[in-house]
Amino acid sequence: MHNDKIVTIFGATGFLGKYLVKDLAEHGFTIKVAARAPEKAYFLKPLGEVGQIVPIFCNYSDANSIHDVVEGSDYVVNCVGILSERGKRSRFKKIHIDLAAMIAKVCSDERVSKFIHISALGCDKGSSKYAKTKLEGEKAVAANYPDVTILRPSVMFGEDDNFINKFAELARYVPFIPLVGGGKTKFQPVFVGDVAEAITKIIADKSEKHEGRIYELAGYEVYDLKGIYEKIFKYTGRRKKFISIPFSVIKFQSIFLRFMPEPFFVTSDQVESLKTDSVFSKGELGFDELDIKPKIMDLILPEYLEYYKSGGKFSKLETV
Ligand SMILES: NC(=O)c1ccc[n+]([C@@H]2O[C@H](COP(=O)([O-])OP(=O)(O)OC[C@H]3O[C@@H](n4cnc5c(N)ncnc54)[C@H](OP(=O)(O)O)[C@@H]3O)[C@@H](O)[C@H]2O)c1
Repeated sequence: MHNDKIVTIFGATGFLGKYLVKDLAEHGFTIKVAARAPEKAYFLKPLGEVGQIVPIFCNYSDANSIHDVVEGSDYVVNCVGILSERGKRSRFKKIHIDLAAMIAKVCSDERVSKFIHISALGCDKGSSKYAKTKLEGEKAVAANYPDVTILRPSVMFGEDDNFINKFAELARYVPFIPLVGGGKTKFQPVFVGDVAEAITKIIADKSEKHEGRIYELAGYEVYDLKGIYEKIFKYTGRRKKFISIPFSVIKFQSIFLRFMPEPFFVTSDQVESLKTDSVFSKGELGFDELDIKPKIMDLILPEYLEYYKSGGKFSKLETV
């Protein structure tokens, strides 16, 4: 299937971006991948036909460079985001607000038909810097491109995620699983492939009904932290005891943990974000309106948690 429409994606080299590129390529779109280092995006090319996926250099600090990439595009998706601040170039304000606004402005100037911006579930309720800048980013984007479709995904799971993999990795090394704030925070994890499908559906939809809308994209089930670990234990066969850590203690520890390598890396802002539940708000638009049934964790987790089993993936195979 081939169509003559061009989609430009910012942040296509990331976790969601890879699924999105694959989905859009299967729908026949030509995809321009805006990248700080195009060679880091070459791994995406085999997801489409020859010439269908085109990595292009983009200097994110320069509106002209963004303009050069966006020019001629029918649709634009902004998937750029950071979870923590690292160095001068990775500041929440710069990435979530300034860059997002600049891309939106260029899309408006270039009369791009649809602009889809990826925000985060709960950004309107959270007290973390991450959440606050995501919300400010939404406003900045809408001020520059009023018809923007904003998607607020919940924490995403899938192969290569930085969520279930991080927890499973942590469970390999620590004697006790820390339940921050008693582990009561509620999550509604969403499969990354469902979010990519939502974006592709909105782009492929010939109607204008998604313009100016915000969709909350949350998974089928709600879990607390303990529930998520129970799922991980189920598929890795590694069971650990839990230990409750008050917010005040972990906030102090995170001063040091932010210098640790993964999976121990935690910032005080990430701790702050655990104070707010990340679940679908009743009455908001979501997967139902997009006619998508979100996949449950039990369907996807076994595919990639096998790696964390004691003895590894092939531990249960008979030797021939
Ligand atoms: N993952 C989740 O659970 C989750 C949940 C809710 C919302 N979101 C949002 O969904 C979007 C996609 O998430 P994701 O998990 O796919 O993110 P990701 O894997 O971390 O990818 C982020 C993308 O942003 C780019 N990027 C990172 N730092 C940058 C910087 N300083 N300057 C310019 N570009 C930078 C990366 O490009 P390089 O390859 O060049 O580094 C990458 O393409 C983000 O907006 C995120 O905030 C994610």
